[in-house]
Amino acid sequence: MSKKILVLPGDGIGPEITAEAVKVLEVCRDQFGLDISWDEGLVGGAGFDATGEPLPPETLDKAKAADAILLGAVGGPKWDKLPDISKRPERGLLGLRKELKLFGNLRPAILYPQLADASSLKPEVVSGLDIMIVRELTGGIYFGQPRGIRELENGEREGFNTYVYSESEIRRIGKVAFEMARKRNKKVCSVDKANVLEVTMLWKEVMEEVAKDYPDVELSHMYVDNAAMQLVRAPKQFDVIVTGNMFGDILSDEAAMLTGSIGMLPSASLDENAKGMYEPCHGSAPDIAGLGVANPLATILSVAMLLRYSFGEGEVATKIEQAVSKVLDQGLRTADILSADTRKVGTQEMGAAVVEALKAL
Ligand code: NAD
Ligand code: IPM
Ligand code: MN
Repeated sequence: MSKKILVLPGDGIGPEITAEAVKVLEVCRDQFGLDISWDEGLVGGAGFDATGEPLPPETLDKAKAADAILLGAVGGPKWDKLPDISKRPERGLLGLRKELKLFGNLRPAILYPQLADASSLKPEVVSGLDIMIVRELTGGIYFGQPRGIRELENGEREGFNTYVYSESEIRRIGKVAFEMARKRNKKVCSVDKANVLEVTMLWKEVMEEVAKDYPDVELSHMYVDNAAMQLVRAPKQFDVIVTGNMFGDILSDEAAMLTGSIGMLPSASLDENAKGMYEPCHGSAPDIAGLGVANPLATILSVAMLLRYSFGEGEVATKIEQAVSKVLDQGLRTADILSADTRKVGTQEMGAAVVEALKAL
């Protein structure tokens, strides 16, 4: 039976980059014979503008019915001052993650050798880099209760959030990380702030318990401040990093830059059964939206992850990755990854080049 994908372009550069990713899907269907189809939906600011909700019920229904979701990005200055936080575009994205129970977020930071010069670090520090960040995505301080802004007796206001993880939440993301490490270099580094926060003391303890079932995998622990430093000092020491929602958000943007640009980092957000939502790690880039210069490769590489993790089409996924590599070999670069002796192209030209390279494989 045909597998259904829900495409949610979202805001800012979202529509520009997902349009290129859809062209890649077309090649997968027409040339590689994948039995896939897709439909579009509204989310984020686009959802709010059209319906008053960042996650319109119709979109949620379509997302539940789909076999996988491909999302561009949400948010932008237009909606930043909405007084009701539940209407903000980002809530659309968070709502999808929570409603679909997409707790396992995979963010692979892989350096394409052709981009060694685009990284802000020295080529020898990043060459051969291949890290998998496993970020918990439906818990932690992002979702903990109570939360809000309240008035104190002295008349000033106080903002508060709750950083909370249950043992079962920690265990299930731990298993994702250890399973992943088993297929890689068999090292898990769990990142916490257990020297200060009880919630991450428990995190550390549960990771130790999970590790007992994986004697072939080496577990280490690192405080998040040190991890942030080690990522730019010697990033190749890491194989799999497992961490909570907020630390994972921050560290994955940092890791993205090691690969040359945030425009290169795809992601998968998976539930227990590998149903997933796929999106670039970057945001809606309001500063370049509408200019046709955004890098579509993170979104195209997210299509590869979708095919690999949700549809079991690893071979086609690898072809997409090879096509991206070929285009980089040809010296084509969007502005964010431009370096000496390369040619600057826009979003559409980059997408078209990947499509051509893919067709030739
Ligand atoms: P951002 O990732 O949108 O942009 C940060 C910087 O990276 C900008 O200079 C931008 O131009 C650049 N950049 C990002 N993606 C790029 C690409 N594909 N090609 C070239 N350059 C790229 O982060 P921000 O500016 O902090 O956030 C902007 C908005 O996006 C906010 O509303 C934020 O909430 C939202 N956001 C959404 C997501 C998501 O939908 N998953 C993720 C992060 C931020
Ligand atoms: C991401 C984004 C989101 C997050 C925002 C937009 C809610 O930064 O996907 O990395 O913090 O998870
Ligand atoms: Mn982020």
